[in-house]
Amino acid sequence: MLEVDRVAKQYPSPTGPLVVLDDVSLRMEAGQRLVVMGPSGSGKSTLLSILGTLEVPTAGHVCLDGVDPFALSPADRAAYRNQRIGFVFQEHHLLAGCSAIDNVVLPALATGRVTQEIEARGLHLLERVGLANRVEHPPAQLSGGERQRVAIARALIHSPQVILADEPTGQLDGNAAGAVANLLVELTSEMSSLLIVVTHSVSIAERIAAGTGMVRQLVNGRLEPDSSEVARS
Ligand SMILES: Nc1ncnc2c1ncn2[C@@H]1O[C@H](COP(=O)(O)OP(=O)(O)O)[C@@H](O)[C@H]1O
Ligand SMILES: [Mg+2]
Repeated sequence: MLEVDRVAKQYPSPTGPLVVLDDVSLRMEAGQRLVVMGPSGSGKSTLLSILGTLEVPTAGHVCLDGVDPFALSPADRAAYRNQRIGFVFQEHHLLAGCSAIDNVVLPALATGRVTQEIEARGLHLLERVGLANRVEHPPAQLSGGERQRVAIARALIHSPQVILADEPTGQLDGNAAGAVANLLVELTSEMSSLLIVVTHSVSIAERIAAGTGMVRQLVNGRLEPDSSEVARS
């Protein structure tokens, strides 16, 4: 379970503190899906960065399955992030000089070596995202949608409890975007991971939240109540 309790984030600025997140609370069980929408600059990426422990909150607490990542040492927090969190960004951030499979198993290099088991899981994931015949392709020889599917496989290599996707379809056309959204839902539900997706697209939000997902708006650093009914009507 992910518990976010009254998280705030401020940045110092010459005119006083800039409040980016204000009293954000959230509770999600394994397997749940949440879409965060809201205007540019409303704090969506900052929220995902805090949930992914890339940024530290100014106030409040985050707890995942009983662990407060901000109470961990920097080394333990890095291991927590590597094992428990999967990131998918708007930009794929794949390494240009590496094949699809090498990119997918890359997170394992950070904590040790790429075992046969990891390699096999990487190949399985590439197959699951429809890229069994693109395993040795470098990013430059893949389409935008294919690159993003490699990025999804990479995010899932350690079967993380939490997948954070920040505008994952922002640079894709309708079909490729829909495929990426469907894969995120399918694969995270198979793994009972918790999925949080930031998007500006109502149709992507609907796909992600279809069924039991929630849609919440972040406005001026505050997370408003579930608006999935509104988004679907
Ligand atoms: N490191 C930083 N220092 C100061 N201000 C920041 C920093 N990162 C983000 N901000 C500010 O926080 C606000 C929210 O940013 P962000 O979370 O990226 O919004 P969103 O993803 O919703 O567009 C913006 O006004 C941005 O300028
Ligand atoms: Mg953003």
